[in-house]
Amino acid sequence: MKVFNEIEACYGAVRDVQRRGGRVGLVPTMGALHEGHVSLIEAARRRSDSVAVTIFVNPTQFGPNEDFEKYPSDTEADLAACEASGADIVFTPSVETLYPRGFETTIHVSGLTEGLCGAHRPGHFDGVTTIVAKLLNILPADAAFFGEKDYQQLLVIRRMVRDLNLPVEIVACPIVREKDGLACSSRNRYLSPSERSQAAVLSRALFSARDRIAAGHKRVKELVARIRAEILAAGPAKIDYVEIVDAETLDSLTEVDRPARIVLAARIGPCRLIDNVAVKE
Ligand code: PAJ
Repeated sequence: MKVFNEIEACYGAVRDVQRRGGRVGLVPTMGALHEGHVSLIEAARRRSDSVAVTIFVNPTQFGPNEDFEKYPSDTEADLAACEASGADIVFTPSVETLYPRGFETTIHVSGLTEGLCGAHRPGHFDGVTTIVAKLLNILPADAAFFGEKDYQQLLVIRRMVRDLNLPVEIVACPIVREKDGLACSSRNRYLSPSERSQAAVLSRALFSARDRIAAGHKRVKELVARIRAEILAAGPAKIDYVEIVDAETLDSLTEVDRPARIVLAARIGPCRLIDNVAVKE
């Protein structure tokens, strides 16, 4: 496994593989790697000759009152996890390398970024699309792997790739969960033991709504009210949103009558947690 901090050398390593006829799979991350990230690296491993992982806590996707300064970082553990799960190339640039003095460009996807996390985190998706476009240029992979955990992010990146004709295949990977259902997240480590057990209510509420939909319930208002009530019954939480949206357009539904996602974001203790589940697939 080779670790690069510099753009040119990293670009060269990816192009070397491709010049020899190999396919490169890219897994962009912000580090603090967990089982969810590992599953992406393993998926990339299965479908590529060479796997590249990026570890970069991207300042431009954090709002002024968000946790950029406190975002967890453990480079040594991350490199060990990359090595163990089969990465060949790891890119760990500094902020100055990716955003040198004078940086002035932003990629903005409209529409899909307006609701859900976009409404609660102004500018967040501009930060995401801009950094992902940069990473795809620095590591011009054949395929890039993203988790359904960040469902809106996945759709926004797909949209950007189509709209800008970026020559890369976007591969979606399923959500990896802890034993009690909580979606793995770098932020889970900030939950106290009682907040941690409370947080399992998020996936529990999603799964029971999915079961009610499978049993024939359709009315979004009632389904959402029940999810909210279930979350709040488990302890103090601030719900940013609970919605049932079209799985492709993210438009809000009033009836669950097509492939959809139940998506939510809630604050428990110090953490803003997001989760989602597919319904009517
Ligand atoms: P990060 O939160 O580190 O996530 C990196 C990738 O891991 C994303 O594609 C995310 O969806 C996926 N992931 C996280 N938790 C997961 C889980 N429990 N199961 C499956 N996949 C999971 O998302 C970002 O970083 C950044 O926005 C990034 C795309 C790297 C741009 O900075």
